[in-house]
Amino acid sequence: MELNFSKRVRNLKPSAIREIFKYAEMPEYIPFSAGNPAAEAFPAEEIGRISAEILRDSPVAALQYSTTEGYRPLREYLKEYMREKYGVGGNGDSLLITSGAQQTVDLVTKALVDPGDIVLCEDPSFIGSLNSFRSFEAVLLGIPMDEDGVNTERLESVLRENKNIKYFYTIPNFQNPSGITMSAEKRKKVYELCSAAGVLILEDNPYGDLRFRGEDIPAIKTLDTAGAVMYVGSFSKVVSPGIRVGYAIGPEALIHKMVVCKQGEDVHTNIWAQMICHRFMTECDYEAHLERLRGIYKHKAEVLEEAMRQYLAPKGISWSKFDGGLFAWCKLPEGVDMSDYVQQALEHKVCVVPGSAFMPNENEVSDCFRVNFSTPTDGQLRRGIEILGSI
Ligand SMILES: Cc1ncc(COP(=O)(O)O)c(C=O)c1O
Repeated sequence: MELNFSKRVRNLKPSAIREIFKYAEMPEYIPFSAGNPAAEAFPAEEIGRISAEILRDSPVAALQYSTTEGYRPLREYLKEYMREKYGVGGNGDSLLITSGAQQTVDLVTKALVDPGDIVLCEDPSFIGSLNSFRSFEAVLLGIPMDEDGVNTERLESVLRENKNIKYFYTIPNFQNPSGITMSAEKRKKVYELCSAAGVLILEDNPYGDLRFRGEDIPAIKTLDTAGAVMYVGSFSKVVSPGIRVGYAIGPEALIHKMVVCKQGEDVHTNIWAQMICHRFMTECDYEAHLERLRGIYKHKAEVLEEAMRQYLAPKGISWSKFDGGLFAWCKLPEGVDMSDYVQQALEHKVCVVPGSAFMPNENEVSDCFRVNFSTPTDGQLRRGIEILGSI
């Protein structure tokens, strides 16, 4: 039977990352392409123990249907934790548990975007979110990035020149894919510009806890007195992406609408997984766990940087500064064709993601590629970068 796909999804392409994943899963390939946490980062023993205890002590609660808003003890704990530790969330905000940050981004878009509405985003930006915006037929306008975050002059002029902008999507910490962190000054400026223009900020922060150098910079949400920021959190990079638990903290009215939208998607996030997150945060030493993760990624980043200095810098390949997260963003020398380069890397069994995958404008040409440093072993990091330098 010939299927007649909806106009909304007809032109959606499979993510370039997912395609490259096929190779990255083969043991003979060096996997610089995924955004996966390191294998040694998972608190598997604790999760196994907690999970068994939950099934032994509260099987019905764990296996029964539950409320869309999320498991109450986790919601209450997270509200308190995020407010006390980070100053995120205040009067007028609600918290919704979601099935990962990806679902929060999708629900916000579902709740706010009509076909043809503009969504502003950083250029480059996370492909999963870009595809979600596209699936609701948003018009994506990319704002270029500087070394200290989005270019605020450009943001200002785009906000001035366009009327039907629904929100500005930003990943302020160790951005995926560029690794760039937005400075405190720029966060302030972004908040002032967007709130003055009546444009919501969608602040996606899955990597904030993975800073291994320098000082934390407060979230844009901490500046929010006008109910103008939806904050997106996730357990994916700090506990497990397979567990699929994230959260949204933002204006009550928008959260209410997202709850209705979520009912039509998955009714509620896996309750057993939410119970595990709650008990892991409250019963295990969560701060020590985060510190251990930062140690793992600091070490891997140092191995990567040393190899990049040795093998990439002499060939004219440069990279953006990164102080946390899981990615390095590399720029090829002038005149090198990026698609050809990435293809050759694949032929040499090294998987990197072409920069074009992260462009809001799908026809834009990129001279960059993304390197993930959390998945490969130290040996793979050195060998893979040596190969990338030799191409
Ligand atoms: C910036 C960004 N947002 C959202 C996600 C999706 O995260 P989750 O697994 O919580 O859905 C990712 C995953 O790589 C990401 O990099």
